[in-house]
Amino acid sequence: MGKLRSAGLIITSGSAIFASYAALSGNQKFYKQCLMPCFQLLDAETAHVLGVKMLSFGIVPFKTYQDPPSLTTSVWGRTFSNPIGVAAGFDKHAEAMEGLRKIGFGFIEVGSVTPLPQLGNPKPRVFRLTEDEAVINRYGFNSVGHPVVAERMKKFRQKTEKSIVGINLGKNKTSTSAVDDYVLGVECLGDFADYLVVNVSSPNTPGLRELQGKKQLQELIINVLKARDSLLSKPPVLIKIAPDLTSKDKKDIADVVLDPKSRVDGLIISNTTISRPSSLKSQLKSETGGLSGKPVTDLSTDTIREMYKLTNGSLPIIGVGGVRSGHDAYDKIKAGASLVQLYTAMAFMGPPLITTIKKDLHKLIREDGFKNITEAVGNDHR
Ligand SMILES: Cc1cc2nc3c(=O)[nH]c(=O)nc-3n(C[C@H](O)[C@H](O)[C@H](O)COP(=O)(O)O)c2cc1C
Repeated sequence: MGKLRSAGLIITSGSAIFASYAALSGNQKFYKQCLMPCFQLLDAETAHVLGVKMLSFGIVPFKTYQDPPSLTTSVWGRTFSNPIGVAAGFDKHAEAMEGLRKIGFGFIEVGSVTPLPQLGNPKPRVFRLTEDEAVINRYGFNSVGHPVVAERMKKFRQKTEKSIVGINLGKNKTSTSAVDDYVLGVECLGDFADYLVVNVSSPNTPGLRELQGKKQLQELIINVLKARDSLLSKPPVLIKIAPDLTSKDKKDIADVVLDPKSRVDGLIISNTTISRPSSLKSQLKSETGGLSGKPVTDLSTDTIREMYKLTNGSLPIIGVGGVRSGHDAYDKIKAGASLVQLYTAMAFMGPPLITTIKKDLHKLIREDGFKNITEAVGNDHR
């Protein structure tokens, strides 16, 4: 009996040591086949919160990949060591920025942040569509509010200047003035941000997407730019748009963002979709909310291509939506994105995915004869 117990103990400890080593060394197969399926035993929101906590405590793979010069790029006068960033919604409350940098992201976007703290929609509000490699969420801007995020950003900036961090701004559900909410965001958080995002495309706040309409958008941008121009740091302002816009909507947005009165510094394309492609297999497909992941890939890339054309390639675009591989990232770059973000694929594949994407991207641009990613931006249009 004693021997059996010792053997059991040795096997258990051996497996635990192996698992810890595999996890901390960032072994992609181990993440894909063992660790991430364990995470998926938890409900989607618990897994999300746990993932953020682990990153905020610095529990990250110790093996790092040195970004090659081919992936370095310069946008808005900032140098990105690689073009792959984490999309808004993962680190909503600015808790895990250092961990996210350590797992290899070239930039981080925190938020969306609302002026006042708010709880968001009732749970459950995040759903994994595993067969579709997709997620539906209706978080509804759960946020700790501007002052808490401002305090965290202040501390973070005192400790490290290395990371590029964008801040994504939202509005409170019960606010009577969207313009005031975004202006408050600029005033409170702008000086901590490498760029600011005016998020007018989340589908889970009533009336938010209507701010993409021509008149409303122009009024909003004029006020946001005025607030931005009175800041010391004057960060670039980007507008994040939906993938569900009509051709007229897109033309209107292009007209507004190119108009000298309301000219912004970039676009983020795209947010989640309210559409439900017929290819979806999961039973959860009819949950209300925004769909992200694989089914959004082409919808988002096509929107990038169209907006790049409508804006004559004159505005930097961050391409986001269903990026799961170097190929997906490269497609968005060729369609016109200067930078790329992802979220959902990381929830399925874990942090090693970032290194895989970067290695593949490096290979792909070399195969096409480009020296660096900047040369490949918008290549579909040449
Ligand atoms: C759970 C979840 C929460 C999100 N929250 C936000 C948010 O607060 N603000 C925002 O602009 N986008 C948010 N997004 C959208 C993502 O930033 C991204 O635009 C979208 O998911 C497409 O990228 P992906 O397919 O790589 O996830 C969220 C996405 C998910 C999956």
